[in-house]
Amino acid sequence: MSQATPSIAPDQKSMEDIVALCKRRGFVYPASEIYGGINGFWDYGPLGTALKNNIRDWWWRQTVECPPIGPDGEPLAIVGLDSAIIQNPKTWEASGHVGGFNDPMQTCHQCKKLFRADHVSSMLREAKWAQSLYEATDGLQHPSEECAAAAEQWAKKQGKKLAPGIEESHKDLKVLSPQIVLEVKTAIEDPLFEGSHTCCPNCGGSLTKPRAFNLMFESHAGAIQSEDNKVYLRPETAQGIFLNYKNVLDTMRVKMPFGIAQIGKSFRNEVTPRNFIFRSREFEQMEMEWFCAPDDAPKWYDFWKHERMRWWESLGIEKSNLRFRDHDDDELAHYSKMCVDVEYMYPFTSPGFGELEGVAHRGSFDLTQHQTHSGTKMEYFDQERQLAAKAEGKSKDEIDKLSKYIPNVIEPASGLTRAVLVLLCEAYTPDESRASKLVMKFKPRFAPIKAAVFPLVNKDGMPEVAHNLYKTLRNQHTVQMDAKQSIGKRYARMDEAGTPYCFTIDGDSLTDQTVTVRHRDTQAQERINLDKVPAFLDEHIKN
Ligand code: GAP
Repeated sequence: MSQATPSIAPDQKSMEDIVALCKRRGFVYPASEIYGGINGFWDYGPLGTALKNNIRDWWWRQTVECPPIGPDGEPLAIVGLDSAIIQNPKTWEASGHVGGFNDPMQTCHQCKKLFRADHVSSMLREAKWAQSLYEATDGLQHPSEECAAAAEQWAKKQGKKLAPGIEESHKDLKVLSPQIVLEVKTAIEDPLFEGSHTCCPNCGGSLTKPRAFNLMFESHAGAIQSEDNKVYLRPETAQGIFLNYKNVLDTMRVKMPFGIAQIGKSFRNEVTPRNFIFRSREFEQMEMEWFCAPDDAPKWYDFWKHERMRWWESLGIEKSNLRFRDHDDDELAHYSKMCVDVEYMYPFTSPGFGELEGVAHRGSFDLTQHQTHSGTKMEYFDQERQLAAKAEGKSKDEIDKLSKYIPNVIEPASGLTRAVLVLLCEAYTPDESRASKLVMKFKPRFAPIKAAVFPLVNKDGMPEVAHNLYKTLRNQHTVQMDAKQSIGKRYARMDEAGTPYCFTIDGDSLTDQTVTVRHRDTQAQERINLDKVPAFLDEHIKN
Protein backbone atom coordinates (compact mmCIF):
# COMPACT_ATOMS: atom_id res chain seq x y z
CA MET A 1 0.00 0.00 0.00
CA SER A 2 1.22 3.51 -0.77
CA GLN A 3 1.43 6.12 1.97
CA ALA A 4 -1.55 8.43 2.42
CA THR A 5 -0.87 12.07 1.61
CA PRO A 6 -0.50 13.60 5.09
CA SER A 7 -2.86 16.38 6.16
CA ILE A 8 -1.23 19.74 6.66
CA ALA A 9 -1.85 22.64 9.02
CA PRO A 10 -4.04 25.56 7.84
CA ASP A 11 -1.14 28.02 8.04
CA GLN A 12 0.69 26.00 5.39
CA LYS A 13 -2.17 26.42 2.92
CA SER A 14 -2.20 29.45 0.68
CA MET A 15 -5.55 31.15 0.12
CA GLU A 16 -4.24 32.41 -3.23
CA ASP A 17 -3.61 28.82 -4.35
CA ILE A 18 -7.04 27.69 -3.13
CA VAL A 19 -8.79 30.53 -4.99
CA ALA A 20 -6.79 29.71 -8.14
CA LEU A 21 -7.74 26.03 -7.92
CA CYS A 22 -11.41 26.97 -7.44
CA LYS A 23 -11.34 28.98 -10.66
CA ARG A 24 -9.28 26.42 -12.62
CA ARG A 25 -11.41 23.43 -11.65
CA GLY A 26 -14.86 25.04 -11.68
CA PHE A 27 -15.60 25.29 -7.97
CA VAL A 28 -16.10 29.06 -7.68
CA TYR A 29 -15.84 31.87 -10.25
CA PRO A 30 -15.94 35.62 -9.67
CA ALA A 31 -19.49 36.80 -10.55
CA SER A 32 -19.86 38.85 -13.76
CA GLU A 33 -16.24 38.18 -14.56
CA ILE A 34 -16.47 39.25 -18.22
CA TYR A 35 -17.59 42.69 -17.03
CA GLY A 36 -14.75 43.00 -14.54
CA GLY A 37 -16.55 41.22 -11.68
CA ILE A 38 -18.65 42.69 -8.88
CA ASN A 39 -17.28 42.98 -5.39
CA GLY A 40 -18.81 40.58 -2.87
CA PHE A 41 -20.57 38.27 -5.35
CA TRP A 42 -19.49 34.82 -6.52
CA ASP A 43 -20.78 32.16 -8.89
CA TYR A 44 -20.55 28.49 -8.00
CA GLY A 45 -19.29 26.39 -10.91
CA PRO A 46 -20.25 22.77 -11.62
CA LEU A 47 -18.00 21.28 -8.93
CA GLY A 48 -18.76 24.03 -6.40
CA THR A 49 -22.49 23.60 -6.91
CA ALA A 50 -22.21 19.84 -6.39
CA LEU A 51 -20.12 20.35 -3.23
CA LYS A 52 -22.59 22.93 -1.90
CA ASN A 53 -25.59 20.69 -2.64
CA ASN A 54 -23.91 17.76 -0.89
CA ILE A 55 -23.39 19.83 2.28
CA ARG A 56 -26.92 21.27 2.02
CA ASP A 57 -28.46 17.80 1.65
CA TRP A 58 -26.48 16.45 4.60
CA TRP A 59 -27.64 19.32 6.82
CA TRP A 60 -31.27 18.86 5.70
CA ARG A 61 -31.09 15.09 6.20
CA GLN A 62 -29.57 15.42 9.67
CA THR A 63 -31.80 18.31 10.74
CA VAL A 64 -35.22 17.72 9.18
CA GLU A 65 -35.48 14.18 7.83
CA CYS A 66 -33.49 12.41 10.54
CA PRO A 67 -33.09 14.93 13.38
CA PRO A 68 -30.84 14.20 16.35
CA ILE A 69 -31.95 12.10 19.29
CA GLY A 70 -32.94 14.34 22.19
CA PRO A 71 -31.91 14.08 25.87
CA ASP A 72 -34.92 11.77 26.53
CA GLY A 73 -33.70 9.22 23.95
CA GLU A 74 -36.41 10.12 21.40
CA PRO A 75 -35.86 11.78 17.99
CA LEU A 76 -36.50 15.54 18.02
CA ALA A 77 -39.34 17.05 15.95
CA ILE A 78 -38.07 19.46 13.29
CA VAL A 79 -39.98 20.49 10.15
CA GLY A 80 -38.75 22.22 7.01
CA LEU A 81 -39.74 25.55 5.45
CA ASP A 82 -38.96 27.60 2.36
CA SER A 83 -40.18 31.16 2.91
CA ALA A 84 -40.05 34.11 0.51
CA ILE A 85 -36.89 36.18 0.31
CA ILE A 86 -38.94 39.39 0.24
CA GLN A 87 -41.42 39.78 3.09
CA ASN A 88 -43.63 42.63 4.26
CA PRO A 89 -41.16 45.38 5.26
CA LYS A 90 -42.80 45.56 8.71
CA THR A 91 -41.00 42.25 9.34
CA TRP A 92 -37.67 44.07 9.42
CA GLU A 93 -38.98 46.88 11.60
CA ALA A 94 -40.21 44.32 14.13
CA SER A 95 -37.00 42.28 13.98
CA GLY A 96 -34.89 45.36 14.63
CA HIS A 97 -33.07 45.18 11.30
CA VAL A 98 -34.39 48.51 9.97
CA GLY A 99 -33.32 50.40 13.08
CA GLY A 100 -30.41 48.35 14.27
CA PHE A 101 -28.75 46.31 11.52
CA ASN A 102 -26.03 48.89 11.25
CA ASP A 103 -22.29 48.81 11.22
CA PRO A 104 -20.62 52.03 12.37
CA MET A 105 -18.46 53.05 9.39
CA GLN A 106 -15.60 55.45 8.81
CA THR A 107 -14.46 56.98 5.52
CA CYS A 108 -10.93 58.12 4.78
CA HIS A 109 -10.73 61.84 3.95
CA GLN A 110 -7.82 61.11 1.66
CA CYS A 111 -8.39 57.85 -0.29
CA LYS A 112 -12.19 57.79 0.29
CA LYS A 113 -12.19 54.11 1.30
CA LEU A 114 -14.86 52.95 3.74
CA PHE A 115 -14.02 50.89 6.84
CA ARG A 116 -15.98 49.21 9.61
CA ALA A 117 -14.98 51.13 12.72
CA ASP A 118 -14.44 47.95 14.73
CA HIS A 119 -12.08 46.57 12.06
CA VAL A 120 -9.77 49.55 11.76
CA SER A 121 -7.31 48.44 14.46
CA SER A 122 -6.92 44.92 13.10
CA MET A 123 -6.65 46.15 9.49
CA LEU A 124 -4.02 48.62 10.60
CA ARG A 125 -2.02 45.77 12.06
CA GLU A 126 -2.26 43.95 8.71
CA ALA A 127 -1.43 47.00 6.54
CA LYS A 128 2.00 46.65 4.95
CA TRP A 129 2.77 50.36 5.17
CA ALA A 130 1.92 50.38 8.88
CA GLN A 131 4.12 47.37 9.52
CA SER A 132 7.13 48.89 7.79
CA LEU A 133 6.59 52.16 9.66
CA TYR A 134 6.45 50.12 12.84
CA GLU A 135 9.69 48.34 11.96
CA ALA A 136 11.38 51.68 11.27
CA THR A 137 10.36 52.98 14.69
CA ASP A 138 10.41 49.68 16.57
CA GLY A 139 11.47 49.95 20.18
CA LEU A 140 11.52 53.74 20.07
CA GLN A 141 9.26 55.62 22.43
CA HIS A 142 6.87 58.17 21.04
CA PRO A 143 6.89 61.13 21.26
CA SER A 144 10.64 61.00 21.71
CA GLU A 145 12.68 62.90 19.15
CA GLU A 146 14.36 59.66 18.15
CA CYS A 147 11.05 58.10 17.14
CA ALA A 148 9.88 61.17 15.26
CA ALA A 149 13.20 61.26 13.37
CA ALA A 150 12.96 57.56 12.47
CA ALA A 151 9.38 58.02 11.27
CA GLU A 152 10.35 61.09 9.27
CA GLN A 153 13.20 59.23 7.59
CA TRP A 154 10.90 56.31 6.79
CA ALA A 155 8.19 58.62 5.40
CA LYS A 156 10.69 60.33 3.13
CA LYS A 157 11.71 56.99 1.62
CA GLN A 158 8.04 56.10 1.05
CA GLY A 159 7.20 59.38 -0.66
CA LYS A 160 5.03 60.37 2.31
CA LYS A 161 5.28 63.41 4.53
CA LEU A 162 5.05 63.73 8.28
CA ALA A 163 2.49 66.32 9.24
CA PRO A 164 2.11 68.00 12.59
CA GLY A 165 -1.62 67.15 12.71
CA ILE A 166 -3.85 64.81 10.72
CA GLU A 167 -6.22 67.62 9.74
CA GLU A 168 -3.43 68.94 7.56
CA SER A 169 -3.74 65.96 5.18
CA HIS A 170 -3.22 67.10 1.65
CA LYS A 171 -5.09 65.51 -1.23
CA ASP A 172 -1.97 64.63 -3.23
CA LEU A 173 0.24 63.58 -0.38
CA LYS A 174 0.06 60.73 2.02
CA VAL A 175 0.60 62.62 5.20
CA LEU A 176 1.42 60.98 8.51
CA SER A 177 1.11 62.82 11.76
CA PRO A 178 2.99 61.92 14.96
CA GLN A 179 -0.43 60.83 16.24
CA ILE A 180 -0.62 58.23 13.46
CA VAL A 181 2.86 56.96 14.26
CA LEU A 182 1.71 56.48 17.82
CA GLU A 183 -1.53 54.78 16.74
CA VAL A 184 0.35 52.32 14.51
CA LYS A 185 2.79 51.47 17.28
CA THR A 186 0.02 50.92 19.81
CA ALA A 187 -2.13 48.87 17.41
CA ILE A 188 0.75 46.56 16.53
CA GLU A 189 2.08 46.15 20.07
CA ASP A 190 -1.33 45.64 21.68
CA PRO A 191 -3.66 43.32 19.73
CA LEU A 192 -6.57 44.33 22.00
CA PHE A 193 -6.09 48.01 21.16
CA GLU A 194 -9.31 49.61 20.00
CA GLY A 195 -7.65 53.00 19.59
CA SER A 196 -9.03 56.32 18.56
CA HIS A 197 -9.50 54.95 15.02
CA THR A 198 -8.40 58.07 13.29
CA CYS A 199 -5.89 56.49 10.96
CA CYS A 200 -6.71 54.94 7.56
CA PRO A 201 -5.36 51.39 7.19
CA ASN A 202 -5.04 51.95 3.43
CA CYS A 203 -3.07 55.19 3.20
CA GLY A 204 -2.59 56.66 6.66
CA GLY A 205 -5.03 59.51 5.99
CA SER A 206 -7.50 60.74 8.59
CA LEU A 207 -10.85 59.00 9.06
CA THR A 208 -14.30 60.49 9.59
CA LYS A 209 -16.17 59.85 12.85
CA PRO A 210 -18.05 56.49 12.85
CA ARG A 211 -21.46 56.74 11.08
CA ALA A 212 -24.25 54.12 10.92
CA PHE A 213 -24.69 52.23 7.63
CA ASN A 214 -27.63 49.83 7.15
CA LEU A 215 -26.67 46.49 5.67
CA MET A 216 -30.00 45.59 4.04
CA PHE A 217 -30.38 45.73 0.25
CA GLU A 218 -33.45 47.71 -0.74
CA SER A 219 -35.75 47.34 -3.73
CA HIS A 220 -39.33 48.24 -4.68
CA ALA A 221 -42.27 45.89 -5.17
CA GLY A 222 -44.48 47.14 -8.00
CA ALA A 223 -44.20 49.68 -10.77
CA ILE A 224 -43.78 52.85 -8.72
CA GLN A 225 -40.57 53.39 -6.85
CA SER A 226 -41.49 55.20 -3.67
CA GLU A 227 -41.03 54.92 0.08
CA ASP A 228 -44.48 53.26 0.21
CA ASN A 229 -43.45 50.18 -1.74
CA LYS A 230 -39.90 49.86 -0.49
CA VAL A 231 -38.94 46.27 0.30
CA TYR A 232 -35.80 44.57 1.56
CA LEU A 233 -33.91 41.46 0.51
CA ARG A 234 -33.78 39.32 3.64
CA PRO A 235 -30.51 39.59 5.58
CA GLU A 236 -31.21 36.29 7.39
CA THR A 237 -33.50 33.31 6.73
CA ALA A 238 -34.57 33.27 10.40
CA GLN A 239 -37.35 35.89 10.18
CA GLY A 240 -39.28 33.85 7.57
CA ILE A 241 -39.39 31.11 10.19
CA PHE A 242 -40.75 33.39 12.93
CA LEU A 243 -43.42 34.71 10.54
CA ASN A 244 -44.58 31.13 9.94
CA TYR A 245 -44.33 29.88 13.52
CA LYS A 246 -48.13 30.14 13.95
CA ASN A 247 -48.87 28.54 10.57
CA VAL A 248 -46.67 25.56 11.38
CA LEU A 249 -48.11 25.21 14.85
CA ASP A 250 -51.67 25.26 13.51
CA THR A 251 -51.12 22.91 10.56
CA MET A 252 -48.41 20.43 11.48
CA ARG A 253 -49.55 18.93 14.80
CA VAL A 254 -46.24 19.83 16.42
CA LYS A 255 -45.95 20.59 20.11
CA MET A 256 -43.31 22.18 22.28
CA PRO A 257 -40.38 21.74 21.96
CA PHE A 258 -39.98 21.63 18.18
CA GLY A 259 -37.89 23.17 15.44
CA ILE A 260 -38.38 24.80 12.04
CA ALA A 261 -35.47 24.67 9.63
CA GLN A 262 -34.76 26.58 6.46
CA ILE A 263 -31.96 26.83 3.90
CA GLY A 264 -31.76 29.71 1.49
CA LYS A 265 -30.15 32.85 0.18
CA SER A 266 -29.55 35.89 2.34
CA PHE A 267 -28.23 39.27 1.31
CA ARG A 268 -26.16 41.80 3.20
CA ASN A 269 -24.61 44.90 1.73
CA GLU A 270 -21.37 44.12 3.56
CA VAL A 271 -19.05 47.09 3.64
CA THR A 272 -15.91 45.02 3.40
CA PRO A 273 -16.70 41.73 1.65
CA ARG A 274 -13.47 39.79 1.89
CA ASN A 275 -11.54 36.58 2.16
CA PHE A 276 -13.00 34.99 -0.96
CA ILE A 277 -16.49 33.59 -0.17
CA PHE A 278 -16.05 34.02 3.62
CA ARG A 279 -17.92 37.31 3.70
CA SER A 280 -19.96 38.00 0.58
CA ARG A 281 -22.97 40.16 -0.17
CA GLU A 282 -25.11 37.26 -1.40
CA PHE A 283 -24.72 33.99 0.49
CA GLU A 284 -26.67 30.99 1.70
CA GLN A 285 -27.64 30.16 5.25
CA MET A 286 -28.80 27.01 7.02
CA GLU A 287 -30.81 28.06 10.06
CA MET A 288 -33.00 26.26 12.55
CA GLU A 289 -35.19 27.90 15.16
CA TRP A 290 -35.83 25.62 18.14
CA PHE A 291 -38.95 26.69 20.06
CA CYS A 292 -39.15 25.65 23.70
CA ALA A 293 -40.55 26.59 27.11
CA PRO A 294 -38.62 29.51 28.64
CA ASP A 295 -37.27 27.56 31.62
CA ASP A 296 -36.02 24.77 29.32
CA ALA A 297 -34.05 27.18 27.10
CA PRO A 298 -30.67 26.92 28.94
CA LYS A 299 -30.80 23.11 28.66
CA TRP A 300 -31.51 23.29 24.90
CA TYR A 301 -28.85 25.94 24.36
CA ASP A 302 -26.30 23.53 25.78
CA PHE A 303 -27.74 20.63 23.77
CA TRP A 304 -27.58 22.47 20.43
CA LYS A 305 -24.12 23.86 21.08
CA HIS A 306 -22.67 20.35 21.36
CA GLU A 307 -24.91 18.88 18.68
CA ARG A 308 -23.71 21.44 16.14
CA MET A 309 -20.06 20.76 16.90
CA ARG A 310 -20.73 17.05 16.39
CA TRP A 311 -22.31 17.88 13.00
CA TRP A 312 -19.31 19.91 11.84
CA GLU A 313 -17.02 17.05 12.81
CA SER A 314 -19.20 14.72 10.70
CA LEU A 315 -18.06 16.70 7.65
CA GLY A 316 -14.56 15.31 8.13
CA ILE A 317 -13.06 18.47 9.63
CA GLU A 318 -10.05 17.93 11.94
CA LYS A 319 -11.15 18.48 15.55
CA SER A 320 -8.13 20.70 16.18
CA ASN A 321 -9.35 23.08 13.43
CA LEU A 322 -12.67 23.69 15.21
CA ARG A 323 -13.43 25.39 18.50
CA PHE A 324 -16.17 27.17 20.46
CA ARG A 325 -16.02 30.85 21.30
CA ASP A 326 -18.52 32.32 23.74
CA HIS A 327 -19.63 35.86 22.93
CA ASP A 328 -18.84 38.53 25.47
CA ASP A 329 -21.88 40.46 26.71
CA ASP A 330 -20.90 43.56 24.73
CA GLU A 331 -20.78 41.71 21.40
CA LEU A 332 -24.17 40.01 21.67
CA ALA A 333 -26.62 40.90 18.87
CA HIS A 334 -29.65 42.96 19.92
CA TYR A 335 -31.86 39.84 20.05
CA SER A 336 -29.45 37.55 21.82
CA LYS A 337 -29.23 36.52 25.49
CA MET A 338 -26.29 34.14 25.01
CA CYS A 339 -24.34 33.16 21.93
CA VAL A 340 -21.51 30.81 21.15
CA ASP A 341 -19.71 30.62 17.80
CA VAL A 342 -18.38 27.45 16.25
CA GLU A 343 -15.12 28.66 14.74
CA TYR A 344 -12.74 27.21 12.14
CA MET A 345 -9.03 27.83 11.64
CA TYR A 346 -9.08 29.30 8.10
CA PRO A 347 -5.73 29.74 6.32
CA PHE A 348 -6.29 33.52 6.55
CA THR A 349 -7.03 33.46 10.30
CA SER A 350 -4.45 30.84 11.30
CA PRO A 351 -3.20 30.41 14.00
CA GLY A 352 -6.43 32.19 15.01
CA PHE A 353 -10.00 31.13 14.22
CA GLY A 354 -12.94 32.71 12.39
CA GLU A 355 -16.73 32.30 12.67
CA LEU A 356 -18.49 29.41 10.99
CA GLU A 357 -21.77 29.18 12.89
CA GLY A 358 -23.48 30.98 15.75
CA VAL A 359 -25.68 29.19 18.28
CA ALA A 360 -27.80 31.89 19.93
CA HIS A 361 -30.32 31.96 22.78
CA ARG A 362 -32.79 34.48 21.29
CA GLY A 363 -35.17 34.33 24.24
CA SER A 364 -38.70 35.36 23.22
CA PHE A 365 -37.43 38.50 21.47
CA ASP A 366 -38.58 37.75 17.92
CA LEU A 367 -42.01 36.27 18.65
CA THR A 368 -42.76 39.06 21.12
CA GLN A 369 -41.73 41.69 18.57
CA HIS A 370 -43.88 40.14 15.83
CA GLN A 371 -46.80 39.83 18.28
CA THR A 372 -46.49 43.54 19.14
CA HIS A 373 -46.05 44.73 15.54
CA SER A 374 -48.62 42.44 13.86
CA GLY A 375 -51.20 42.01 16.62
CA THR A 376 -51.09 38.21 16.10
CA LYS A 377 -50.96 36.25 19.36
CA MET A 378 -47.81 34.16 19.62
CA GLU A 379 -48.60 32.64 23.01
CA TYR A 380 -48.49 28.87 23.35
CA PHE A 381 -50.73 26.82 25.58
CA ASP A 382 -48.76 23.87 26.95
CA GLN A 383 -51.23 21.22 28.01
CA GLU A 384 -48.57 18.79 29.22
CA ARG A 385 -47.13 21.40 31.55
CA GLN A 386 -50.60 22.30 32.76
CA LEU A 387 -51.33 18.66 33.67
CA ALA A 388 -47.93 18.24 35.33
CA ALA A 389 -48.38 21.45 37.36
CA LYS A 390 -51.89 20.38 38.42
CA ALA A 391 -50.57 16.97 39.49
CA GLU A 392 -47.93 18.74 41.58
CA GLY A 393 -50.69 20.70 43.34
CA LYS A 394 -49.51 24.13 42.13
CA SER A 395 -51.73 27.22 42.52
CA LYS A 396 -53.87 28.49 39.61
CA ASP A 397 -51.49 31.42 39.06
CA GLU A 398 -48.51 29.13 38.98
CA ILE A 399 -50.26 26.71 36.61
CA ASP A 400 -51.16 29.56 34.25
CA LYS A 401 -47.65 30.93 34.33
CA LEU A 402 -46.11 27.56 33.57
CA SER A 403 -48.53 26.55 30.81
CA LYS A 404 -49.06 29.81 28.87
CA TYR A 405 -45.96 31.41 27.42
CA ILE A 406 -44.32 32.92 24.38
CA PRO A 407 -41.72 30.28 23.50
CA ASN A 408 -38.02 30.92 23.78
CA VAL A 409 -35.84 30.19 20.79
CA ILE A 410 -32.44 28.55 20.46
CA GLU A 411 -31.01 29.20 17.01
CA PRO A 412 -28.13 27.31 15.36
CA ALA A 413 -27.38 29.59 12.37
CA SER A 414 -24.70 28.65 9.90
CA GLY A 415 -23.52 29.71 6.48
CA LEU A 416 -23.82 27.14 3.71
CA THR A 417 -21.43 29.04 1.47
CA ARG A 418 -19.09 29.44 4.44
CA ALA A 419 -19.26 25.67 4.94
CA VAL A 420 -18.20 25.29 1.28
CA LEU A 421 -15.18 27.47 2.03
CA VAL A 422 -14.33 25.39 5.08
CA LEU A 423 -14.45 22.12 3.14
CA LEU A 424 -12.38 23.62 0.32
CA CYS A 425 -9.74 24.80 2.81
CA GLU A 426 -9.84 21.56 4.78
CA ALA A 427 -9.58 19.33 1.69
CA TYR A 428 -6.81 21.32 -0.02
CA THR A 429 -3.60 19.32 0.46
CA PRO A 430 -0.38 20.12 -1.41
CA ASP A 431 1.54 16.97 -2.41
CA GLU A 432 4.70 17.33 -4.47
CA SER A 433 4.72 13.58 -5.23
CA ARG A 434 1.67 13.87 -7.47
CA ALA A 435 1.40 15.11 -11.04
CA SER A 436 -1.25 17.60 -9.85
CA LYS A 437 1.00 18.73 -6.93
CA LEU A 438 -2.11 18.72 -4.76
CA VAL A 439 -5.11 16.63 -3.82
CA MET A 440 -8.54 17.69 -2.56
CA LYS A 441 -9.23 15.26 0.27
CA PHE A 442 -13.00 15.65 0.62
CA LYS A 443 -14.76 13.08 2.73
CA PRO A 444 -16.25 10.85 -0.03
CA ARG A 445 -19.85 11.76 0.91
CA PHE A 446 -19.18 15.42 0.04
CA ALA A 447 -16.94 14.93 -3.03
CA PRO A 448 -18.53 16.57 -6.09
CA ILE A 449 -17.61 13.58 -8.27
CA LYS A 450 -17.74 10.20 -6.52
CA ALA A 451 -15.87 8.17 -9.12
CA ALA A 452 -14.30 8.37 -12.57
CA VAL A 453 -14.24 5.62 -15.16
CA PHE A 454 -11.27 5.48 -17.55
CA PRO A 455 -10.54 3.21 -20.49
CA LEU A 456 -6.72 2.86 -20.36
CA VAL A 457 -6.59 3.52 -24.10
CA ASN A 458 -9.39 4.65 -26.33
CA LYS A 459 -9.45 1.48 -28.48
CA ASP A 460 -9.42 -2.34 -28.42
CA GLY A 461 -12.87 -2.64 -26.83
CA MET A 462 -11.89 -0.77 -23.66
CA PRO A 463 -14.10 2.32 -24.26
CA GLU A 464 -17.17 0.11 -24.68
CA VAL A 465 -16.62 -1.71 -21.36
CA ALA A 466 -15.86 1.60 -19.62
CA HIS A 467 -18.97 3.17 -21.07
CA ASN A 468 -21.17 0.32 -19.84
CA LEU A 469 -19.71 0.62 -16.35
CA TYR A 470 -20.22 4.39 -16.44
CA LYS A 471 -23.87 3.94 -17.50
CA THR A 472 -24.48 1.54 -14.59
CA LEU A 473 -22.80 3.71 -11.94
CA ARG A 474 -24.46 6.98 -13.01
CA ASN A 475 -27.87 5.62 -11.96
CA GLN A 476 -26.83 5.87 -8.32
CA HIS A 477 -23.89 8.26 -8.15
CA THR A 478 -22.28 11.32 -9.69
CA VAL A 479 -19.63 9.75 -11.91
CA GLN A 480 -17.63 10.91 -14.88
CA MET A 481 -16.12 9.05 -17.79
CA ASP A 482 -12.89 10.38 -19.24
CA ALA A 483 -11.06 8.85 -22.18
CA LYS A 484 -8.80 11.75 -23.13
CA GLN A 485 -5.08 12.26 -22.39
CA SER A 486 -2.66 10.00 -20.50
CA ILE A 487 -3.87 8.06 -17.49
CA GLY A 488 -1.52 10.16 -15.28
CA LYS A 489 -3.14 13.39 -16.45
CA ARG A 490 -6.61 11.94 -15.87
CA TYR A 491 -5.66 10.96 -12.29
CA ALA A 492 -4.25 14.46 -11.78
CA ARG A 493 -7.53 16.07 -12.87
CA MET A 494 -9.48 13.84 -10.51
CA ASP A 495 -7.08 14.60 -7.62
CA GLU A 496 -7.77 18.30 -8.13
CA ALA A 497 -11.52 17.64 -8.21
CA GLY A 498 -11.24 15.47 -5.08
CA THR A 499 -12.71 12.32 -6.70
CA PRO A 500 -12.17 9.51 -4.20
CA TYR A 501 -12.12 6.54 -6.64
CA CYS A 502 -11.02 5.98 -10.25
CA PHE A 503 -11.82 2.74 -12.09
CA THR A 504 -9.59 1.89 -15.05
CA ILE A 505 -10.48 -0.62 -17.73
CA ASP A 506 -7.37 -2.12 -19.32
CA GLY A 507 -6.51 -5.06 -21.60
CA ASP A 508 -6.90 -7.59 -18.76
CA SER A 509 -10.42 -6.33 -18.00
CA LEU A 510 -11.54 -7.73 -21.34
CA THR A 511 -10.31 -11.22 -20.51
CA ASP A 512 -10.67 -11.59 -16.72
CA GLN A 513 -13.49 -9.08 -16.06
CA THR A 514 -11.50 -7.14 -13.43
CA VAL A 515 -10.74 -3.41 -13.14
CA THR A 516 -8.14 -1.34 -11.32
CA VAL A 517 -9.42 0.83 -8.48
CA ARG A 518 -7.22 3.77 -7.59
CA HIS A 519 -7.69 5.27 -4.12
CA ARG A 520 -7.31 9.06 -4.13
CA ASP A 521 -5.72 9.59 -0.70
CA THR A 522 -3.08 6.84 -0.85
CA GLN A 523 -2.78 6.50 -4.66
CA ALA A 524 -2.88 2.75 -3.93
CA GLN A 525 -4.30 0.52 -6.64
CA GLU A 526 -6.09 -2.81 -6.37
CA ARG A 527 -7.94 -5.14 -8.74
CA ILE A 528 -11.59 -5.95 -8.18
CA ASN A 529 -14.19 -7.75 -10.28
CA LEU A 530 -16.04 -5.57 -12.73
CA ASP A 531 -19.42 -6.69 -11.38
CA LYS A 532 -18.38 -5.77 -7.81
CA VAL A 533 -17.73 -2.11 -8.71
CA PRO A 534 -21.27 -0.78 -7.93
CA ALA A 535 -21.28 -2.44 -4.48
CA PHE A 536 -17.70 -1.23 -3.84
CA LEU A 537 -18.71 2.35 -4.61
CA ASP A 538 -21.95 2.15 -2.58
CA GLU A 539 -19.99 0.94 0.40
CA HIS A 540 -17.06 3.35 0.18
CA ILE A 541 -18.83 6.64 -0.44
CA LYS A 542 -21.01 6.28 2.64
CA ASN A 543 -17.99 7.55 4.60
N1 GAP B 1 -30.11 34.49 12.13
C1 GAP B 1 -28.89 34.78 12.79
C2 GAP B 1 -27.84 35.16 11.89
O1 GAP B 1 -28.06 35.41 10.71
P1 GAP B 1 -25.28 35.62 11.76
O2 GAP B 1 -24.19 35.28 12.74
O3 GAP B 1 -25.37 37.01 11.28
O4 GAP B 1 -26.62 35.16 12.47
C3 GAP B 1 -25.17 33.25 10.68
O5 GAP B 1 -25.18 34.65 10.52
C4 GAP B 1 -24.11 32.63 9.79
O6 GAP B 1 -24.32 33.05 8.43
C5 GAP B 1 -22.68 33.06 10.11
O7 GAP B 1 -22.13 32.27 11.15
C6 GAP B 1 -21.98 32.80 8.79
O8 GAP B 1 -21.65 31.43 8.65
C7 GAP B 1 -23.06 33.14 7.78
N2 GAP B 1 -22.87 34.51 7.26
C8 GAP B 1 -23.26 35.66 7.82
N3 GAP B 1 -22.91 36.71 7.06
C9 GAP B 1 -22.30 36.21 5.97
C10 GAP B 1 -21.70 36.78 4.81
N4 GAP B 1 -21.71 38.09 4.59
N5 GAP B 1 -21.14 35.95 3.89
C11 GAP B 1 -21.14 34.61 4.08
N6 GAP B 1 -21.68 34.02 5.16
C12 GAP B 1 -22.26 34.79 6.10
